[in-house]
Amino acid sequence: MKTIREHLGAKLFLANLAVIMIGITVLAITIQIAIPAAFNRHMGEMSMMNGMMQGQGQGYGRTLFENFQASMFESLAYAVTASVAAALLVSWVLSRRIVAPMQTLTDASLGIANGNYSERVQVTGFDEIAKLATRFNHMASQLEQVESMRRQLIGDVTHELRTPLTSIKGYMEGLVDGVLPANAETFNQIHREADRLSRLVDDLQELSRVEAKAYSLDVRSVSVSSLVGTTLKRLSPQATAKRITLRSNLPADLEPVLADEDRITQVLVNLAANAIQYTPEEGEVDLSAVKHGNEIHISVKDNGVGIPQEHLANIFTRFYRVDKSRSRNAGGGSGIGLTIARHIVEAHGGRIWAESAGEGSGSTFTFSLKIA
Ligand SMILES: Nc1ncnc2c1ncn2[C@@H]1O[C@H](COP(=O)(O)OP(=O)(O)OP(=O)(O)O)[C@@H](O)[C@H]1O
Ligand SMILES: [Mg+2]
Repeated sequence: MKTIREHLGAKLFLANLAVIMIGITVLAITIQIAIPAAFNRHMGEMSMMNGMMQGQGQGYGRTLFENFQASMFESLAYAVTASVAAALLVSWVLSRRIVAPMQTLTDASLGIANGNYSERVQVTGFDEIAKLATRFNHMASQLEQVESMRRQLIGDVTHELRTPLTSIKGYMEGLVDGVLPANAETFNQIHREADRLSRLVDDLQELSRVEAKAYSLDVRSVSVSSLVGTTLKRLSPQATAKRITLRSNLPADLEPVLADEDRITQVLVNLAANAIQYTPEEGEVDLSAVKHGNEIHISVKDNGVGIPQEHLANIFTRFYRVDKSRSRNAGGGSGIGLTIARHIVEAHGGRIWAESAGEGSGSTFTFSLKIA
């Protein structure tokens, strides 16, 4: 029974079998009903003829055979007609039942092709068509998700671009109207906004590159201390400016990792730059690494503003910021850095996650890499 429910082939076989059996049954029944009547009629005709031809003494055997043949053909004609009609009716009903879900699928796929991504089909049964319908629904929901992400992305990008553009326009209007003084400070503000705009465009370009995996990884064995060393060197000016203690804590016997040095440095720089950005003056930022099985976990820990529990799961989503106004004032982040970091780490086959005891309790960002 299970085989029949799960296989279209078995259903088709059974449907054909049903048509044949019904055809044979109708044939048998009709013959049963039609033969006596036909036989009696032909026999009656024969005895009448015999009465008329009495004494001629010929053709008796042939006439009996011919009459038998005639009655046989007559009842067979009825029976075949009836059984063909029954078989046609049954196969029409069965094929409609089997083909109907196909028609539904065809209609739904037309709907999707026309951009109606909410189109779904009802799944009945367990056979191949039902499996196709399940996959179809899955595909439709994936498409719907991609479409809504695309809309969201366009919305986010326009929003992000509009903010600095509005500022620049505002400064310009102020200058033209004479409301703002044409001095170095005003020009610096405009420059800062333009700078933010170009940084945003660079980030977006980088994001689209990593999301599309349009870059190659040059993976080799790299020592963690060299990755951390480069990061420290690159960020020490920023840390010094905020009087933040930036240091590293690495075990002496740490194995090298499998990584693209430039890309993983980019991840570490992103994480450490965030740590510096979201930590008040005179805070601390620590870079460390530990071995876990066949992986090394590299962490960036700060004692800054921390991340509330409900935001932890979202901060790797593009454009997501815990406090939009805060990050904008504190250097104009657009919420792309962690998304890029996650893509790069995942391209290495690793994971990245954040931990924080909550607001004001600092945060720790960790990612894993395979030991070389
Ligand atoms: N170390 C940290 N401490 C507290 N919050 C953090 C920390 N790192 C990231 N966040 C939060 O996660 C959000 C996303 O970080 P992400 O680096 O992706 O974006 P950003 O720093 O705002 O902008 P940018 O794209 O310029 O890096 C930040 O806006 C911030 O709210
Ligand atoms: Mg950042």
